[in-house]
Order: sequence, then structure tokens, then C-alpha cells
Amino acid sequence: MSEAVLVSSPAGVPICGEIRLPGDKSVSHRALMFSALADGRSQLSGVLEGEDCQATRRALAAMGVPIERNGDGLYTVSGRGLNGLRKPAEPLDMGNAGTGMRLFCGLLAGQSFSTTLIGDESLSRRPMDRVADPLNAMGAALSTTNGHAPICIEPAPNGLQGVDYVLPVASAQLKSALLIAGLYADGAVRVTEPGISRDHTERMLSAMGVEITRDDVTVTLRHSKALEPIDIEVPSDLSSAAFFLVAASIVPGSELNLRQVGVNPSRDGVLTILDRMGAQIERLNPRMCGGEPVADLLVRATTLKGIDVPPDLVPLAIDEFPVLFIAAAAARGKSRFVGLEELRHKESDRIAAMVAGLRTIGVAVEEGPDWVEIEGGEWRGGHVDSHHDHRIAMAFAVAGATASQPISIARPENIVTSFPNFSDLGNRVGMALEFVAR
Ligand code: S3P
Repeated sequence: MSEAVLVSSPAGVPICGEIRLPGDKSVSHRALMFSALADGRSQLSGVLEGEDCQATRRALAAMGVPIERNGDGLYTVSGRGLNGLRKPAEPLDMGNAGTGMRLFCGLLAGQSFSTTLIGDESLSRRPMDRVADPLNAMGAALSTTNGHAPICIEPAPNGLQGVDYVLPVASAQLKSALLIAGLYADGAVRVTEPGISRDHTERMLSAMGVEITRDDVTVTLRHSKALEPIDIEVPSDLSSAAFFLVAASIVPGSELNLRQVGVNPSRDGVLTILDRMGAQIERLNPRMCGGEPVADLLVRATTLKGIDVPPDLVPLAIDEFPVLFIAAAAARGKSRFVGLEELRHKESDRIAAMVAGLRTIGVAVEEGPDWVEIEGGEWRGGHVDSHHDHRIAMAFAVAGATASQPISIARPENIVTSFPNFSDLGNRVGMALEFVAR
């Protein structure tokens, strides 16, 4: 059988225009899940149509939630209430989505029926004890398969209790799973993280009437009787914007306007890091959208400089490192990233995948268990492997825009999980991206 590769060629033209990127993946998952648990109808717009969020939509539909699609990203969700879901006929397949699987662990822990969560090969390799253990400490009955999916979730024998839990890593997925389980618990759920992680769950649940408070890195949720329905316009995804921010920064002469992008301070580390590298990114028209701060991002090409990225910025930019490594490779001087251990547990081992690909195209890079050092310069073309990881594939597609020869990227199919129209939008603004059968 022939396999498609994504070929990114140096187009020799600047990256210019004004585009609206797809909806935020994190916010889309939560909007679908929480509105399904609300008492009444919610109208959602701008929902990401990527495969990850479709898996969440299908899982909710399989548990009896009527979700009507009224157009691109437009959904009406008829919430069933906190206790209105029904047992699905089959295991719930989360596909490639870590967020879907971990958030559903919290949601399903509180149900009165048993379920099984499964996922694709990559998701089945990712650690799940980190979510099962704290939920079980609340009285839930989750069993993983040697720490991984499939995960079987039985009803909590004595109901869920509140918990005071200190997370070993800053992780919005784990924090959110515990807070969602807290909707079903007797007593407060208090989660403390070693650093700030994205707070979409807290913002959305609080807009739906749930009592949530934050004190520095500790979030507390008190038992809730009901969620009020909500109308949400999902902002564009800053994680998807990151590919275009870097592409337009490094291709000479570029000027690109990305409209209505989420700039939530609990995940705008990519803007801080690019800013320290000297990138020219203006935040225009700052405003609120769907309970989240958004802005139009106007980016102009410039010469980036290598920097040291400290560990406290890592959770705030956790998904953006693949493309930040490309920015570092294009910068003048050396960049050093530390505190990156979590990157080894994403859709692929992102340190290993990026280092291998960067070496293939001639970039000087060194890695340690949790650090990466990159010497800026120029690079050639070549054939790199994305390891089925959407963000690795898109990062090397950005690299192709300034390579001396095309870069071909193996196994790019998972780009659809987060950014289904990546190549269309890329080509519209001046990149040269093509899927080619091999
Ligand atoms: C997400 C949290 C992050 C991020 C993921 C989305 C979320 O994972 O990498 O893509 O929506 O909560 P961790 O919380 O495990 O760092």
C-alpha cells in the first residue's frame, strides 16, 4: 500500500495574508464535554473539527447526548445533566487524544455505569497511572492495562470523595480530570501543581455556575449540583498559530495576521519565548471570546536570536516546543531548553523525534534526558519521520519553508487530529506543501 508523505518545499516567497485558524483543541474538548453535562441546550461555535475533538463528540453521542452539527464548527448540545448519561454499547475510542482520554477518566469515574476507554497505538503507549491513581484516591475504580489504555472504569463503590492532591507535574489534563470528578464528589477537590498549567477547565466550569477558586498554584472545586448551559465561541488555537508565527518569523519579508487567537496567559509561553528571541509579534484588538482572552496576532519576519529557555516557561508552552526548536535552529547563536521531561510523554517522544529530524537536515543539536541545545544556522532538505505525531509533522513543514531543498515528512496523517486544514492554509499564505503518495 502506498503511504502519503508531506513535502514542504522552499517557495521563495514571503508568507503573507490574513487568516483565521481552526478552533482551540483544549477549549473544544471542554466545551463539548461540559455542555453535555449541563441542564439544557448550549450553542457552540468555532469548535475544532479535528479528529481528536470528533472522538470526544462521538463518545458523548454514544452515551446518549444529542449533539447537532449545524455547520462548520457549529454545534447545539442538548445537555443531559450531571447524571443523565447512559452506558455506551461499546468501548469509547479516544483515537490519538490524550486530553480526551484523561478528561473522560474524571468524567466517567463519577458515573453509575462501567465503561472502557481505548485509543490508538500512540495513545496506548502514554502513561495513564498518573490520572488513575489520584482518581482512585478519591474512591474511583479505574484499572489501567499496566499503566496504559485500555482503561476500565467501574462505578465508585462508595461514591467519590473530595481530595487534596499535589500533582507531580504541572498538567492541565490531570488537574482537569480531578476537577471534573470533583463535580461528583462529596467534599472539595483541591489540586496543587508545581507550576501553572492552562486553566480552560476552571474558566468554563466557573462560567457554568460551579464554585471554583484559585490561590496561586492551588485550585479548589466544591461539589456542584448542576451545570448551567453556556453559549461559547471557541477562539483560534494558539498551538496551531505557533506554526505560522515561526514560519512568518523566519521567512524573509513575511507579514501575516492571525485573527482571533486565544492568548490565555496560562498557555502563552510561546509568545514569551518568541518575544525573548526577538520575534516581531504584535497583539492587536485584545478582547474576550468564549470566556478566554484573544487577540489578532500580527507577525513580521525578523532575525531571531538564540536564548536560554528556563523550566518555568515549559508548562506554559508545552505543545509548542517542536516548532520552537525550528525557531531556535533559524536563530543566530545557540539556544538551550531545559526542564523538558514531559515532552518525552506526548504523542511521540518529542525530544527524540525532533533531534533525529533536525540532525537529518543538518542542524547541530544535542539532547539530554530533559534538555535540548540547538545551534542556529541554515539547513538542507531531507526525509524526516514525524512518528505519527501531528506537531512534529507540522514543525518540519515549517522548516521546509526555509530549507535549501524540500523536506519530506513521513507519517503526517495525524495532522488532522488538531489542524485539518493546515496545508490548505499554509499554501494560501505562501508555503509550498503537498501530500505525495510514496
Ligand atoms: C492539554 C494539556 C496539555 C497539552 C495537551 C492539551 C489540555 O497536556 O499538552 O495538548 O487540553 O488540558 P498536559 O496537561 O499533560 O501537559
